[in-house]
This record gives sequence, C-alpha cells and structure tokens, in this order.
Amino acid sequence: MPLLEVRELEKQFGGLKAIAGLNFSVPEKIIFSVIGPNGAGKTTLFNLLTNVYRPSSGSILFQGKDITAMPSFRIAEIGITRTFQNLQVFLNMTALENVMVGCHLHSRAGLISAAVRLPSVIREEKRVRRMAMEALEFCGLLDVADMPADALPYGILKKLEIARALAARPRLLLMDEPAAGLNDTETMEMCGLITRICQSGITIILVEHNMSLVMEISHHVLVLNYGELLAQGSPYEVQHNQEVISAYLGEG
Ligand SMILES: Nc1ncnc2c1ncn2[C@@H]1O[C@H](COP(=O)(O)OP(=O)(O)OP(=O)(O)O)[C@@H](O)[C@H]1O
Ligand SMILES: [Mg+2]
Repeated sequence: MPLLEVRELEKQFGGLKAIAGLNFSVPEKIIFSVIGPNGAGKTTLFNLLTNVYRPSSGSILFQGKDITAMPSFRIAEIGITRTFQNLQVFLNMTALENVMVGCHLHSRAGLISAAVRLPSVIREEKRVRRMAMEALEFCGLLDVADMPADALPYGILKKLEIARALAARPRLLLMDEPAAGLNDTETMEMCGLITRICQSGITIILVEHNMSLVMEISHHVLVLNYGELLAQGSPYEVQHNQEVISAYLGEG
C-alpha cells in the first residue's frame, strides 16, 4: 500500500484550475519531488494535502484512509507535517519554543490540569522539551536553542522550521522550497539534512526550484504544469523527457 494516494484531485479558484485531475501515489520512505514552473500548483497541492484548502473534487488517502475532509490539526496528528514557502516562525520566541509548538500536537494535558500544574503536566512539559531538543539536535541547531528567533539568520530559520515539523514525529513531511534563498554552502547542508530525514524513515514530498538539488537527492520526480501532471519518473527519466524539456527544464 502506498503511504499517500491522490485520486482525481481538483482545486478551482474562480475560473482557474490550480490543480486539475491529478493522480499519483507516494511509496514509503522515499524523497518524492514535485517540480514545475511558478504557478504550476505545487503549494496549492500542499495546501490540499493538509486541508488548508478543501479540494473542489477528488480524494486523498493516507495509509489507505480517506483524509480528504479531515481537519488540518488531525492531519498533523496522524503524521503529515509541513514547512512553508514563506517562513512561518514565531520571531518573538526562542528556537526551542518554536520547536515545542510542533510537539504540542502530542501533548495530552487538558486546560484545567495545565492551569493547576499537576505533576502529570510537569512531566508532560519535560517530555515535550526533550522531543524538541532531539529535533533541534537532528537539525544541528542545539547551540541556538535558547536564542530568540529574530536574532537568527535566514538559513538557520529554514532549518528551524524543519525541526518544528520533525518534532511532531511525522510519517510524511511536506517541504515547500527548503533551499530557496540559501547560499551554496547552506544548500549543501540542506541536501544532507533532507537525505538524513529520509534515511530516518520519514517519507518526504519535496517542492523545490533548485534542479541540481532535486535531481541529486530525489528517488522520484513528478512534474506539474498548469495543475496537471506532465510527467513522472526517476530523475533521469524526467530530465530526458522531451515534453518536460520543452515546457520547463529547457534545452541543454
Ligand atoms: N488562494 C488563492 N486564490 C486564488 N488563486 C490562487 C490561490 N492560491 C493559489 N492560486 C493560484 O493558483 C495557481 C497555483 O499557485 P501555487 O501557489 O500553487 O503555485 P506554485 O507552483 O506553488 O508556484 P511557485 O513556484 O511560484 O511557488 C496560481 O495561478 C495562483 O495564482
Ligand atoms: Mg509555491
């Protein structure tokens, strides 16, 4: 059974079909990249997968279960988390606090027991802190744990968002342009981080414009064009597909 299956998915914004009759499935534990020109529908696809947008039609199955109408917080709880094309970091919090926000998905404490600080709540806080520290460590961010986010450079904040998404212990991680705005060294580090996340057993759907990164680390590449599937296959197959070359990659 594939981890994720998308069937006849459509999203219409007024007269525009941002996603049109899309079908694909994602096997477990691979880096599955989605590429395509600006406006092809990549971010819209992520918004559909996380139910930020409700599809106009079609369905989404995760581990065989229909999640098309599931609220976003439940989707995160069952194991799909994401990062954003435009950084969504709380600048007035520390790096650690930002990541702890991701863990609270798994926090079981109710409001009243939290207010009176029962021992169980204190234990829970320690657990959340530990999970957040583990995610920071995985992303190489332990030494900035107590720094306020607004004092951290952009390249670190991109990793911080990933740490937050990982802290929720996802099975599927959606990454929307993790290398955008990074310099060459940071891009290489990001390549390594994405590969390590996959090696840890987490499936990744990667949206990225940096083609050398995509072709180097992906197991499978799907090309979107005007909301439709133009081609999919191995990086090699996609790079040598004539339609993809004319629509997107360009000659040479
Ligand atoms: N909320 C919205 N309302 C109306 N149109 C939208 C909305 N969100 C996206 N669109 C349109 O849907 C199309 C797909 O946009 P989307 O952001 O998914 O593209 P993308 O592939 O992520 O592009 P980029 O590579 O530039 O990030 C675009 O034409 C966009 O203008
Ligand atoms: Mg986008």
